[in-house]
Amino acid sequence: MTALRKTLGIAAASLVLLAATACGGGGSDTASSGGGGNDQITLGFAQVGAESGWRTANTKSIQDSAKDAGINLKFSDAQQKQENQIKAIRSYIQQKVDVIAFSPVVESGWDTVLKEAKDAGIPVVLTDRSVDSQDTSLYVTFLGSDFIAEGKKAGEWTVKNFANASGEVKIAQLEGTTGSAPAIDRAEGFADVIKSDPKLKIVASQTGDFTRAGGKQVTEALLKSNPDITMIYAHNDDMALGAIEAIEAAGKVPGKDITIVSVDAVHDGMQALSDGKINFIVECSPLLGPQLMDVVKKVKAGESVEKRIVTEETTFTPEQAKEALPSRQY
Ligand code: AHR
Repeated sequence: MTALRKTLGIAAASLVLLAATACGGGGSDTASSGGGGNDQITLGFAQVGAESGWRTANTKSIQDSAKDAGINLKFSDAQQKQENQIKAIRSYIQQKVDVIAFSPVVESGWDTVLKEAKDAGIPVVLTDRSVDSQDTSLYVTFLGSDFIAEGKKAGEWTVKNFANASGEVKIAQLEGTTGSAPAIDRAEGFADVIKSDPKLKIVASQTGDFTRAGGKQVTEALLKSNPDITMIYAHNDDMALGAIEAIEAAGKVPGKDITIVSVDAVHDGMQALSDGKINFIVECSPLLGPQLMDVVKKVKAGESVEKRIVTEETTFTPEQAKEALPSRQY
């Protein structure tokens, strides 16, 4: 499956779409935006939840840009549960929205509901996270980050940082939501790069579900079972921030006694990086709203869109975080 997504990333094939026919109808889950006449596009968006600072920024980006684009947005929050997302998608099908977009909580188990959308003639856009469906005609495009590349960037920094370390470097990994694309791919990309240096060892790996509370809880247990860990690799900033709380409560200094690398670059993560409590952050941009609305408009107009649209991202050291913080949007 990962190979499939990698192939899609490289190929960026184009697909001409049939415009959906029906518009509007039905009650909204939580929000509706934009003014509009008869031609107004209705977009049903099934969000993952509100698990992290990244997700909050992503939701805001989608709601703001729908408003700016004059798109009628029907928005639902799945509270990190796949069954809630499936329910929301079915409700959007029933309401005959023009386009459905969603960030799948996990990669697997979407074929049935995606077929239902296809049979109803409603195009589906994947954003932020992808699915592992073999039949890629079930969705129009996937707009979001390359999570394997993010894991690799974290791995490259780790290899460089510990190049001259004398003993074993004991790494604890705080995984994102089990079965989610970013958790699977960030682990894969990281492992792929650090295997070049045999002294870099992942000694523990557990899920903190992308939440601050999860990161704290896992790290508390980890510091008891592995008190001599050298580094924590967190799949997102929120879990790294939870880890910082646990490390400080255990009387250790985050960023010094234990090196911390994370992914996202949300405001609180960047502040901790700038304060020296996190050592390196790989950016994952949540500002997908404007690009998503462009894609939705093209899809509705029957124009072609690329099958894979990759978000551009960078990395941050503490010095770069200091510089970037004043103008950081999220
Ligand atoms: O899918 C993107 C990931 O989901 C973000 O990195 C994480 O913070 C969020 O919960």
